[in-house]
Amino acid sequence: MSHRVQDKVVIVTGAAQGIGFGIAEMLAREGARVVIADKQAEKGEAAAAGIRAAGGEAIFQLTDVTIEADCAALVQAAVARFGKLDGLVNNVGWFPRATLEETTTEFWEAVMNVNVRSAFYCCKYAIPAMQRAGGGSIVNIGSIHGLQASSNLIAYGAAKGALLNLTRTLAGAYGADRIRCNYLIPGWVMSEGEIALAESRGMDVNELRARGAQQLFGRHQTPQDTAYAVVYLISDESSQVTGSIFHIDAGMSSLIFKERHVA
Ligand SMILES: NC(=O)c1ccc[n+]([C@@H]2O[C@H](COP(=O)([O-])OP(=O)(O)OC[C@H]3O[C@@H](n4cnc5c(N)ncnc54)[C@H](O)[C@@H]3O)[C@@H](O)[C@H]2O)c1
Repeated sequence: MSHRVQDKVVIVTGAAQGIGFGIAEMLAREGARVVIADKQAEKGEAAAAGIRAAGGEAIFQLTDVTIEADCAALVQAAVARFGKLDGLVNNVGWFPRATLEETTTEFWEAVMNVNVRSAFYCCKYAIPAMQRAGGGSIVNIGSIHGLQASSNLIAYGAAKGALLNLTRTLAGAYGADRIRCNYLIPGWVMSEGEIALAESRGMDVNELRARGAQQLFGRHQTPQDTAYAVVYLISDESSQVTGSIFHIDAGMSSLIFKERHVA
């Protein structure tokens, strides 16, 4: 442990499992006091208990981030327990596939609520607390689908695109308060959510796992790959970084070929 975020108080949403849990775990290992927010009570409590058992500081707050009052209570709980708020990781996301024809109004609203309304609510309550703390860092977990088109991710792509511009707007609006806001794009992570979704679509999960071997560095990304970047963005090492996009995907989004250079 190198204490890169020592004593910073950080909320991580959707941290009962997957990428969010990896982020919460690493932040705690680097000295942060972590508030895990999730709608899964048992898993969320277990995640916080696991971090405490490993010597870190963490509490769990049962939260549905699509509900404004829950997000207000989340920020209040963090400040009540740890005295301030320095960081917010808007990690909650939901990525069900649907084409335009398959997308109903209800589906559209549900996807937009989980992926972007959630961040709006959390920022709305976290920013005043960060202003009181003299600054802060917000990390929005985005997706390559927020930058590039995918015909079977109509609502998800729109939501993650909106999240990107929310990131940039907040970065500009609150920079003078020393509040930074960045957008981080994980690569392909075989998280619990990704596996459950693949299974619900009748896909062969082992075949999907095997596809990691085709990536540039021979594997899928892990929650820890994303967490390293989050630690940097929450830490003071990134004090000049805001409104930026980070890709943690072994070059997947920028390389159109993968071959050995021959002179
Ligand atoms: N897995 C990938 O390959 C991948 C790639 C790019 C981006 N992402 C993004 O990374 C983030 C995390 O993805 P993941 O794969 O770890 O997902 P996951 O489904 O494994 O975990 C998501 C967590 O969010 C929680 N959650 C969902 N809705 C909630 C709500 N309304 N209120 C509170 N908690 C809620 C779930 O209970 C769960 O613990 C998402 O924003 C996703 O869009 C994932």
